[in-house]
Amino acid sequence: MTKIALVTGANKGIGFETAKQLAQKNIKVLLGARNETEGKKAETALRDLSLEVTYVKLDISNSEDIAAVTSYIESQYGVLDILVNNAAVFLDGEWFGNNVESVPMKTLRDTFDINYFGTVELTQALLPLIKKSDAGRIVNISSLSGSFGVHLDENHWLYQLKPYTYSASKTALNQFTVFLANALKATNIKVNAASPGWVKTSIGSDQAPLTPEEGAKTGVALALLEDNGPTGTFSQSGEVFPW
Ligand SMILES: NC(=O)c1ccc[n+]([C@@H]2O[C@H](COP(=O)([O-])OP(=O)(O)OC[C@H]3O[C@@H](n4cnc5c(N)ncnc54)[C@H](OP(=O)(O)O)[C@@H]3O)[C@@H](O)[C@H]2O)c1
Repeated sequence: MTKIALVTGANKGIGFETAKQLAQKNIKVLLGARNETEGKKAETALRDLSLEVTYVKLDISNSEDIAAVTSYIESQYGVLDILVNNAAVFLDGEWFGNNVESVPMKTLRDTFDINYFGTVELTQALLPLIKKSDAGRIVNISSLSGSFGVHLDENHWLYQLKPYTYSASKTALNQFTVFLANALKATNIKVNAASPGWVKTSIGSDQAPLTPEEGAKTGVALALLEDNGPTGTFSQSGEVFPW
C-alpha cells in the first residue's frame, strides 16, 4: 500500500526538500503551503520530476484550513501515515544576543500561534487518521535553539544565539513531542523531534553551511523509522541531543 504523508510549509526550504525526498521513496506526499501560488509552484516543480505530490492549502494557524485538510485526507485516503510538522516562522529579527527583556508580546504571540499552537492543533486534528495507519510517524521539525541543554552550555557554539521567541516556541514544541510520544507509547505511532542543523533557507540565512537537501535528511529518516525505531527523541543525523 502506498503511504500517505503530509508536510507543512512545503513550498520552500527544508519542507520542500522533505516533500521531495519522501516522494522519491514512492510515498504519496501532500504538500501543505499557506500561499496557493507558492504551493502550486512547488507542486509543479516536483511533478516535473515525476513525483507524486498534491498541493493542499494549509495555513497551520487557521482552524478552517486545518479542518478542510483533515476532511480532505479522510475522504481521499481514510488514513495518514506520516505527518511532518515543518512550518514555522522566525520573527525575532536578530539571531545574536538575548532579547528576552524587550521582545514585544505581539512577536511572542504571532510566533507561538504558528510554531506551537498551530502545530498542536493540526496534530490533534489529524491524530484519528494517523491512528488508522499501521505505522504512524509524527516528526516535529524543532531546533537546537529549543534546547535547555544548549542554552546552559557556555561552550556550545549556539550559546551566544538567544532569540527568545523562536527558542521558546521550539522548547514548547519539544515538550509537545515528549508528551505526545508518552501518550501514544502503547500504539505503533512514533513521535520524534528533528534538528535539521543550520541550513541555508529564509530562516537559516545565506551564512548557513548546510543545503536544504542536507537539512531535510534527519526529518526524513525519522519519518521512515522502522517499527523498532525510537520514540520521544530529539536528534540530528542520529546524534541524540539534550532537551
Ligand atoms: N534553516 C535552519 O537553519 C533551521 C534550523 C533549525 C530549525 N529549522 C526549522 O526548519 C523548519 C523549516 O524552516 P526553513 O529553514 O526551511 O525556513 P523557510 O524556508 O522560511 O520555510 C518555512 C516554511 O514554513 C512556512 N510557514 C510559515 N508560517 C506558516 C503557516 N502559518 N502555515 C503554513 N506554513 C507556514 C513558510 O511558508 P511561506 O513561504 O508562506 O512563508 C515556509 O514554507 C522550521 O520549523 C524551522 O524552525 C530551520
